[in-house]
Amino acid sequence: MAVEIVDFTVEMLPEAARLLAHRHARDRGAYPALPERFQDPAQALGLVEAVWKKQGAAGAAAVRRGELIGYLIGDVVTEAPWERSGWVRLAGCALAPGESLEILPDVYAKVGARWVDHGCFAHFAMISTADPAWVEAWFRLSFGVEQVHALLSLTEDPSRQAPTPKGVEIRRAGPGDAEALGRLSTIIGSELVREPVWAARLPESLAQTRAGWAELPADPEAVVWLGFEAGQAVASQGYYPAASSVDPLLAPQDCLHLTVAAALDEARGRGIGQALAREAFAWARKSGQRYCHTDFRSANRSASRFLSRQGFHPVAYRLVRRIDSRIAWARGAEQDG
Ligand SMILES: CC(C)(COP(=O)(O)OP(=O)(O)OC[C@H]1O[C@@H](n2cnc3c(N)ncnc32)[C@H](O)[C@@H]1OP(=O)(O)O)[C@@H](O)C(=O)NCCC(=O)NCCS
Repeated sequence: MAVEIVDFTVEMLPEAARLLAHRHARDRGAYPALPERFQDPAQALGLVEAVWKKQGAAGAAAVRRGELIGYLIGDVVTEAPWERSGWVRLAGCALAPGESLEILPDVYAKVGARWVDHGCFAHFAMISTADPAWVEAWFRLSFGVEQVHALLSLTEDPSRQAPTPKGVEIRRAGPGDAEALGRLSTIIGSELVREPVWAARLPESLAQTRAGWAELPADPEAVVWLGFEAGQAVASQGYYPAASSVDPLLAPQDCLHLTVAAALDEARGRGIGQALAREAFAWARKSGQRYCHTDFRSANRSASRFLSRQGFHPVAYRLVRRIDSRIAWARGAEQDG
């Protein structure tokens, strides 16, 4: 019997949770570190409900003989830096086991049409990388990789043998380091505006970024490491508990989140980043952490190389599709005059 694509409704949430739990079990086949509890539909339900409650949420459901066999729920973001955009979160899309990937374009078309009508020409989707066919299905919808989410097992830390470079001191940041951190705060943004990332950095965001970095030592959740050379702070890494800062589907138990890693240009390529990671991971292991999550722009060469070298492996992508906004008026109708 034919598959019907209909509006997603609140009554479908428990069924959607069952599909998500199945999908997550498959994802864990590739990445067993991912949290087991979301294989339970009762636990997965909270995640789908959270997606459904987001601003501007709307969904499409694929139904056969009254049974939900696939869904896509998307929400709308209007704030900087994303601006007007449509989002599919990690819990926002799943198909029943064995169902054809051809359902994906149908559910995306229904939700995406609504976005385009509302002026959302940037579409984002968070997807697991566990199933190459699933990734390919999104690529065929003209999405591309923008951000990589990656996990590292701290029990298999490959950087633990590397020595700290001579003359470099590594230590935890304290209250007296706010100014030094403020000075390091521009490094990541400067890397991201460069080729081949070209991620725009708004001038009005600079003061906030600087203040955010300067506040890190006072943040009880943050653990910040600094590298000093000749008494000057030249590199830093900041870690948070993943439980409070990472999508629950991607946060194993006892997991840290590496939020920032930065070294001044002149300090790079000498093993300071690696030494910071080694100290941070040794501390993390001692405090009972078993995994570290991070995410980075896929086109950021320094981050991509450095983090892969530390042993991080991709578990999810943030995909983006930017649609030609002329579609709002250029729909093939002949103009008058
Ligand atoms: C990512 C970043 C923090 C790495 O810091 P770093 O101090 O340069 O890191 P390391 O020196 O340990 O490693 C970098 C490279 O130097 C190499 N290296 C390490 N020790 C070395 C040594 N003693 N001599 C020569 N090269 C060395 C590493 O093998 C690595 O090479 P690779 O890129 O081919 O893997 C830094 O490049 C940076 O600040 N980038 C911009 C900010 C950014 O994008 N941050 C990530 C987003 S959160």
